[in-house]
Amino acid sequence: MKRIFSGIQPSGSLQLGNYLGAIRNWAKMQNDYECIFCVVDLHAITLPQDPLAMRAATREVAAGVIAGGVNPETCIIFNQSQVPEHAELAWLFNCVARLGWLNRMTQFKEKAGKDRDGAFVGLYTYPVLQAADILAYKATDVPVGEDQKQHIELCRDIAQAFNSMFEIDFFPLPEARIQKAAARIMSLRDGRKKMSKSDPSDYSRINMTDGPDAIAQKIKKAKTDPYPLPDSLDELDQRPEAQNLITIFAALCERSEESVLSEFAGKGFGDFKRYLAELAVEIMGPIGKEMQRLMNYPDEVDSILNHGANKAREIAKPIVSEAKEIVGFLKP
Ligand code: TRP
Repeated sequence: MKRIFSGIQPSGSLQLGNYLGAIRNWAKMQNDYECIFCVVDLHAITLPQDPLAMRAATREVAAGVIAGGVNPETCIIFNQSQVPEHAELAWLFNCVARLGWLNRMTQFKEKAGKDRDGAFVGLYTYPVLQAADILAYKATDVPVGEDQKQHIELCRDIAQAFNSMFEIDFFPLPEARIQKAAARIMSLRDGRKKMSKSDPSDYSRINMTDGPDAIAQKIKKAKTDPYPLPDSLDELDQRPEAQNLITIFAALCERSEESVLSEFAGKGFGDFKRYLAELAVEIMGPIGKEMQRLMNYPDEVDSILNHGANKAREIAKPIVSEAKEIVGFLKP
């Protein structure tokens, strides 16, 4: 069976976009692949982190993945730092990848900003660690958003370079499974800003931990304009708040925006929001409830992560050990 690896950063406050963009897709793939899902805490520290907050966020993200439908009995869920093979293989890959390859990475340029000299070395070599994540398991498929495409290409380059350096067909070249542009979910208060955990208003976003009442309230209060819904996507495009609510509706029920729009064209927001709230509560309500429950039982989450790390390590250890042998390390 094909093997999936994917990662998610332990940044707290998961919201609707994380669910629709990543977690829901993972849950859908779990029956067709052997699945390994990783909370990437080693990647998180490529930017400064508060230790306490990161520990809490690691549990929270794991709870979100589980509450979002990923079955911890059949999938491996763990946090990266608990499987030392990731860092170990990353070092080998640091001595396979070339400076020129990393210099092309657009995410580094964005994240380092103007003060490149002040960035951590780890931020620069971040994609090398990502390649190690994937190849430590010889994963064949990597579900990621469009923004990670370049990193998966680098991973393929590293696998290929390793294989040809040592004249061996050892690492597979994994395929990026690009998840449909996680429909851009915007703020409920301003249709031109992305929905974000850093927005001071909690009414701007739907958190994965929100219960039914909060979800319904937030949709009721979401910003709109005074006109009925249009009947064409072109007109919708001129109206950021209307566009955003239609986007959310379509993403939640997995229909095209066009078909949702044709159902509600000419209707006012009052009507539309009632249906949207009902839909959002139906889908996100139970997830929020389960996520809150898990967050109240950190031991349960920790035990899942611990078990996951053990299973992950069983797979990664022999692969990385063989890679070390190929490189020529003596095992006395
Ligand atoms: N870099 C990815 C992101 O920010 C997270 C990630 C780390 C990842 N390691 C991975 C994704 C391996 C896929 C495979 O979204």
